[in-house]
Amino acid sequence: MAITTEFKPVIIGFLCNWCCYGGADLAGVSRFQYPPYLRVIRLMCSGRVDLEFIFRAFAKKADGVFIGGCHLNDCHYNPEGNYDALGNSLIARRILGQIGVNPERLRLEWVSAGEGTRFAEVMIEFSSKVKSLGPLGASEGVDVADLQAGLEAATQLVPYIKLVERERLRVPVRTDEGYREFFGSADFDALFQELVLDKLTMSRIMGLVRTKPVSAREISSGLRLDPADVARHLNDLARQGMLRFDGDELQAATV
Ligand code: FES
Repeated sequence: MAITTEFKPVIIGFLCNWCCYGGADLAGVSRFQYPPYLRVIRLMCSGRVDLEFIFRAFAKKADGVFIGGCHLNDCHYNPEGNYDALGNSLIARRILGQIGVNPERLRLEWVSAGEGTRFAEVMIEFSSKVKSLGPLGASEGVDVADLQAGLEAATQLVPYIKLVERERLRVPVRTDEGYREFFGSADFDALFQELVLDKLTMSRIMGLVRTKPVSAREISSGLRLDPADVARHLNDLARQGMLRFDGDELQAATV
C-alpha cells in the first residue's frame, strides 16, 4: 500500500520588530489559528531584508519567503525602510522569475502591531498558496540543483545589483503608486534587462562552462534559454575574454 505524506511547506518570514512582529504576537496571544509553517526571523525593519537574504532562504530549501513590515509611511526609521523592502521585493521577484523560481513564492505585506487578525488571514492565504505550489522546484518543473545554481549566481550578483539600483534605478517618488509605476514601466524593463538580467544570464553560463566544456545547445537547454540569446551572450563573453570556442564546445578561458 502506497503511503502518501502531506506536504508541509517551509516558509521563512522576515518580520519587522515594530509592526508585523507585533501583529504576529497579537495573533498568538489572541489564539487566532493559522498553519504552522512559518519560521520567524525578527528584524528591526523590513528595509533590513537584503536581496541576499531572500535568495539564501530559497537556496536553503525554503518553499516560500514572507516579508512583513509596517504600513507605508508608518516605518519607524527615516528614510523609510519599508520603501526599500518594496523595491527589493519587486526586484527579487523579477530575478526569481528569471532563474526559474515562481515569483509567487515571495510575498510582501504590511501589517501593523494591532492587526493580529490580518496577520493570521495573510498567513492562511500565503500558506495555502505555497502549499498549492508544492515543494520548491515542483510547480516550476525545474531540478532543485539547477535552481540552486541560479540562486547562487543571483546571490553573487547582489553587490552589483545594489550598485546599479543606487546609480541607475533610483525611484523618483517615494509613494506606493510611484514605486509600482516605476517598476512597471517599459523603461525600467529595458534597463533591468540590460543591466541586471543579461549579467545574471552570463554569470549562469559561466557557471556551467566552468564545470566542464559544453556546447551552445547544451547551455540553451540546460538554462532554458532561447538559442539566439545564448549566441548573443556567448559572443559577448568571448569578446570579454571570459571563454573560448574549441570546435563546437566552449571552455572557460584560463587567466
Ligand atoms: Fe517596520 Fe521599518 S520599522 S518597516
